[in-house]
Amino acid sequence: FGLLIRELLSKFDHVVVEKNGHVARVTINRPDKLNALNSKVVGELIRAFHDLLMVKEGEDATRCAILTGAGKAFVAGADIAEMASLTSVDAKRLAESGHRLGAIIEGAPFPVIAAVNGFALGGGCELALACDFIFAADVAKFGQPEVNLGVIPGFGGTQRLPRRVGIAKARELIYTGDMLNAEQALAIGLVNAVFPAADLLAKVEEIAQRIATKGPLAVASAKRAMLLGTEVSLAAANQLETEAFAVLFGSEDQKSGMKAFMEKAKPTFAGK
Ligand code: COA
Repeated sequence: FGLLIRELLSKFDHVVVEKNGHVARVTINRPDKLNALNSKVVGELIRAFHDLLMVKEGEDATRCAILTGAGKAFVAGADIAEMASLTSVDAKRLAESGHRLGAIIEGAPFPVIAAVNGFALGGGCELALACDFIFAADVAKFGQPEVNLGVIPGFGGTQRLPRRVGIAKARELIYTGDMLNAEQALAIGLVNAVFPAADLLAKVEEIAQRIATKGPLAVASAKRAMLLGTEVSLAAANQLETEAFAVLFGSEDQKSGMKAFMEKAKPTFAGK
């Protein structure tokens, strides 16, 4: 019984999940190690996002999520102490778990916004890249420093960074391991906006709550179309958009959204 209470109070040791209506905030909470991703933290994050995908009876469905870190880091990378003695087989499992986490965030039927409050290095930068977009505190630092350790990014950095900032900038960052400050990250399009550290979470919460008032099926559909569309020809991608557009006309949200417009009323969406 004691165990059950503990489980209910805090499901995870290093991840905190809070809901504010339709907005979920997921905080990585291992500040003494700058939120470094060991296998336990990665596992807890996978479970936390998996839980958000499951809509429970009587609970608001998640329509937007925020991912952030406790303390002075977002995430200072995969846990070097844990990685140091891995075999190739272990390393493959670790990379696979990081990719699973990236895929669950990227594939979630709601936007996930990274609120990068401090260091986002290595796996931390990669985790932020798996999110829909990044808002950063002015003190944030970004980088892929794996080459300093004799390895390469293993949680998607060689793939998502070039897609986000262009191949030439990604090459420079990954080959040098150099860190960018928030303004530099803004200049190359790695982050969408920079805020004073004290305002970051309020600003991200504000945009997340605004997204949560929109048609959730529409937002999910747009996310999927943009994600899948980058992987196929433009003709196939446009066809994908056409099908996704048409499907939404079978939803209550489309009927109520357009009706509200015509009646000059504020739309509310049930996500049906
Ligand atoms: N893995 C494991 N532990 C890490 C870590 C990581 N990626 N990043 C930081 N930590 C730990 C430190 O070892 C230290 O632990 P300790 O107090 O038990 O010694 C603690 O977090 C605080 O870090 P510290 O280095 O003392 O903070 P700092 O402010 O002086 O430096 C960084 C901050 C981010 C510059 C530095 O921690 C760093 O370079 N981290 C590694 C970044 C990296 O290479 N990431 C990619 C991994 S693939």
